[in-house]
Amino acid sequence: MALVGPPPLLDLNPFAAVFADLREERSATVPFPPGETRFSLPRTRRFADDPLPLLLEAYERFGPIFTLRLFHSNVVFMLGPEANHYITVSHAANFTWRESHFRDLIGLMGDGLLTIDGEFHRRSRMAMLPGFHRERIAASIDVMVDESTSALDRLNPGERIDLYAWTRRLALRIAMRALFGLDPDAGTAHSVDAAGLFEQALSFFSSDYALRMLRGPYTPWARLQQAARALDRLIYSEISSRRASGERGEDILSLLLDAHDEDGNTLTDLQIRDEVMTLMFAGHDTTTSTVAFMFYELAHHPEIVARLIAEQDAQLSGGQPSAAQLMSGELAELEMVFDETLRKYPPAWVGPRRSIEPFEFAGHSVPGRAFVNYSSWASHNLPDVFADPEEFRPERFTPEAKAALAKGAYVPFGGGSRTCIGMRFGQLEVRTIATLLLARFTLSVPEDFKLKIRQMPTISPKEGLPVIVHERA
Ligand code: HEM
Repeated sequence: MALVGPPPLLDLNPFAAVFADLREERSATVPFPPGETRFSLPRTRRFADDPLPLLLEAYERFGPIFTLRLFHSNVVFMLGPEANHYITVSHAANFTWRESHFRDLIGLMGDGLLTIDGEFHRRSRMAMLPGFHRERIAASIDVMVDESTSALDRLNPGERIDLYAWTRRLALRIAMRALFGLDPDAGTAHSVDAAGLFEQALSFFSSDYALRMLRGPYTPWARLQQAARALDRLIYSEISSRRASGERGEDILSLLLDAHDEDGNTLTDLQIRDEVMTLMFAGHDTTTSTVAFMFYELAHHPEIVARLIAEQDAQLSGGQPSAAQLMSGELAELEMVFDETLRKYPPAWVGPRRSIEPFEFAGHSVPGRAFVNYSSWASHNLPDVFADPEEFRPERFTPEAKAALAKGAYVPFGGGSRTCIGMRFGQLEVRTIATLLLARFTLSVPEDFKLKIRQMPTISPKEGLPVIVHERA
């Protein structure tokens, strides 16, 4: 039997959804937390362009829970360690993801792990977890090393590249091979520009909010659908050829084809397609942006690069990391740089939810059916939790300092039953790319480059990351 999925969302028509939201907001039985609750286009625009200062200012004025009216609806934000723990762990059952203000993602991902809730989420996660066990992830090392080495072989000292674009291509090739067992240079995968299609699909989420409401030809929605259908053809053709041949590998697609929950329920082709698309989405820009932000900071901190190089010289035999070193994260300096990068720039920066029942937090009531978000980005930048948050200081994450952090203070991978399922894969990928890159090159950022951050759907360098490649001293 197949696992039974959720009912379709009653209204993906954006205008009908807006009216339903307004109706529900009006019928709230308790007041919203204090904040800025009058409609304001400048505030909505500011949130779309540069949300971090807006959230930090509101935290200063109103404390750890506040309301901002964004576009048509009140959105409650809960920031700081207690808030993160409340939403992701202690009261997670009172929140849905599916009806959050990220519900548009269903148009691309369908009902994959990210957009489902409750019992279906629990069972789907159970069915998928074996694919993310330590040993399975360890089996991906060869692909990660192989692809990173080929990508590095193409770099030449003195040249200027966009590190963000370079890492995006690399991460997509790694995902195609390690997660889905597809050879990007052969067969259908070769003839389809999966990377281009994926970029086309994702561009919907960074387009203007008002444009995202439109449907019909030539709209961002139409471009999203077009790209999603082309990607579907690639995924379905792989599913059917694997089902027909019975061929299985070490990849996650193989596992999904045979996955079942505790009652023996299996996944339909549509559910597998949705999970594949979700993993591609959730795993793609997150690792890519982390690598880009890490090397942006390193380019401005030569003293940290010197420590990383000294660590490599002392610990890598013949300049190459072993699989065990990459898996365990035993390169302690690199690990601290990694943690600090995810503190300052957690790619999945907002945890979108909708409350089910009314609740109270920090002395304020919140209605049921309200949009409620936690935000790792804002929480990691609170000066009362991380002193001088704008400074890049890896020593915040010595093992002792890390152990002393309050519960919920550091949540780059979320928490509770929705903790990032790809965390180990993402960590291994970032460590592999960073270690191999540092072993061969140092990178500098042109002096006139000013980092701008795009926030949707994950935070990433808005205009890429230009770097100049130098031979490692
Ligand atoms: C540095 C890399 C990554 C970061 C920082 C990251 C961060 C996150 C965060 C914060 C969440 C929870 C979101 C929420 O609470 O609403 C999440 C969920 C998720 N991530 Fe990641 N992620 C990373 C890499 C990956 C990779 C490589 C994959 C896939 C191979 C992946 C797949 C997922 C999935 C499927 C979920 C949904 C889990 C669930 O709801 O049960 N992530 N990720």
